[in-house]
Amino acid sequence: MEIIIKPSVVEAQLETAKILRRQIQRKPASVLGLATGSTPIGVYAALVEMHQRGELDFSKASTFNLDEYVGLDPKHPCSYREFMREHLFGKVNLSPANIHFPDGLAKDVPAHCAEYEAAILRAGGIDLQLLGIGREGHIGFNEPSSSLASRTRIKTLTRQTLQDNAKCFGSPDKVPHHVITMGVGTIMDTRHCLMFATGEAKAEAVARMAEGAITADLPASILQMHPVCTLVVDEAAAADLKRTDYYRWVYDNKPDWQRV
Ligand code: GLP
Repeated sequence: MEIIIKPSVVEAQLETAKILRRQIQRKPASVLGLATGSTPIGVYAALVEMHQRGELDFSKASTFNLDEYVGLDPKHPCSYREFMREHLFGKVNLSPANIHFPDGLAKDVPAHCAEYEAAILRAGGIDLQLLGIGREGHIGFNEPSSSLASRTRIKTLTRQTLQDNAKCFGSPDKVPHHVITMGVGTIMDTRHCLMFATGEAKAEAVARMAEGAITADLPASILQMHPVCTLVVDEAAAADLKRTDYYRWVYDNKPDWQRV
């Protein structure tokens, strides 16, 4: 895993956006896996700015989002679909036909999940998957105890996640308890995982993910087994990492051709 520690949230956001920019510039028809949550908002803002400056053309790209709440209409203000419309889809030139989302209103959830997996395969697989991390180590909505081989399916949120995601809904009991999420195995099949985490609340999960044991108790730890995984953090989220001297050394000595 490549671990990039940036001095500030803004610099970490920009680094993450540059990695996404490089992906799209190298392969305009990239298939992107996208994440929601408060953390990537600044990354999406940076991508929108790059697009407005003419550096980024999304017209050939396609996207698959990680997860969605079960029971929410896509137009619900707290749906992840609406989140993406507000922060990215409504501001760049992605073709609506190329945007893919789990359907929280699907009548037959298992069939819909199987179809989501099939759609990813039909698109050629995900080239670059943007990820955040939950305080208990979830990726997507793969909560602790998730099978590390899981595929897209329904999951039940932990009480911690209900609390963490309560802001939009007003209180934890109003947050839907069920979600559809890409599985850990689905995420592991992507060609490049790009995790972005900031703030001290994520420091413990980040350290366990990168330097701890691989365990379903912290699903993100399976990323240690991913052949191409980049972690971008600010100083606060890096606070519990042990080998920061080495990570900084690697970054400072990166060959020019690997820089974004
Ligand atoms: C959310 C999403 C995850 C996200 C994580 C962190 O609920 N399902 O994909 O990475 O939890 O969210 P935040 O960035 O708000 O801390």
